[in-house]
Amino acid sequence: HPPGLQMQGIPPLRLENCRAKGGAPGFKVAILGAAGGIGQPLSLLMKMNPLVSVLHLYDVVNSPGVTADVSHMDTGAVVRGFLGAPQLENALTGMDIVIIPAGVPRKPGMTRDDLFKINAGIVRTLCEGVAKCCPNAIVNLISNPVNSTVPIAAEVFKKAGTYDPKRLLGVTTLDVVRANTFVAEVLGIDPREVDVPVIGGHSGITILPLLSQVKPASSFTSEEIDYLTNRIQNGGTEVVEAKAGTGSATLSMAYAAAKFANSCLTGLKGDAGVVECAFVASQVTELPFFATKVRLGRGGAEEIFPIGPLNEYERVGLEKAKKELAGSIEKGVSFIRK
Ligand code: NAI
Repeated sequence: HPPGLQMQGIPPLRLENCRAKGGAPGFKVAILGAAGGIGQPLSLLMKMNPLVSVLHLYDVVNSPGVTADVSHMDTGAVVRGFLGAPQLENALTGMDIVIIPAGVPRKPGMTRDDLFKINAGIVRTLCEGVAKCCPNAIVNLISNPVNSTVPIAAEVFKKAGTYDPKRLLGVTTLDVVRANTFVAEVLGIDPREVDVPVIGGHSGITILPLLSQVKPASSFTSEEIDYLTNRIQNGGTEVVEAKAGTGSATLSMAYAAAKFANSCLTGLKGDAGVVECAFVASQVTELPFFATKVRLGRGGAEEIFPIGPLNEYERVGLEKAKKELAGSIEKGVSFIRK
């Protein structure tokens, strides 16, 4: 049997024969936290991605069921499941992309920072595994608080001597997805035609939608700007409250994560002009990490785009965002260094 769950009666995989659609070699993707609220629909969506040839589903609970279920879909990717810490290394070996939605989500009244205590340790352990088993993989980090977990991952990789800032990406796509949706609603157009850059970080006021740079070029009243900015910054809380204690965004997040991972895969494949917003190591501000548009290529985030021109409203927002971000970044860095 190949490493992974031993399922009775299932013959060994001929991994050398695993190909993506059209016979291309395809990419190997691992999801860590695959049995969770995000992990399950994300596993389904990645199983449907024609660029994926092998899909590894890892969790500390319930991954056998999710694996058996998803593996019956007649799409190209071969699915293998991994359960518990002793199987983490097998789950990670050989992976091109590792997507991490492991950890606890918010309940009403909690901020993303309230999750730090539990999720910081989970992210550290999983990233130590990445450093050991697939140091060249591109990491898509979803676990909150992203503003701190990305600095944690960077410190883990630095300690291991494997850190490549271009390959560590904090996933902020849900903020962009929400911004596109809410702006489209106000403009009365199809969200697929809307492109809103969202910069800064992934929490409250650090989420900074740049409505002055919306495509197609649009103007908004000051009421619309206030409404949109607040709704985009608090979109996560809107879902947390509506779910009334049962979790945070999972379905829209799985969609956003799958969209972002697909862009990473498309970049890895060598396509030109693949651009997404992401929270990355950056020099566009004085902070060591910042979310802006980045160009995704074979090496990960190969180019980091500048913020571009801001109006006064956005300049004020940026200063507030940077203040909060600096603290969250520092908190993540010192979690590993101390
Ligand atoms: P969930 O609780 O439904 O699922 C989390 C999964 O992680 C569970 O299956 C759990 O067993 C697993 N897990 C826990 N410790 C683990 C470990 N050491 N190794 C592997 N798996 C482990 O939570 P949900 O709703 O899926 O959210 C996951 C994370 O994503 C949370 O931290 C949440 O705040 C974050 N999130 C991030 C968003 C973003 O935009 N970046 C948006 C929404 C949620």
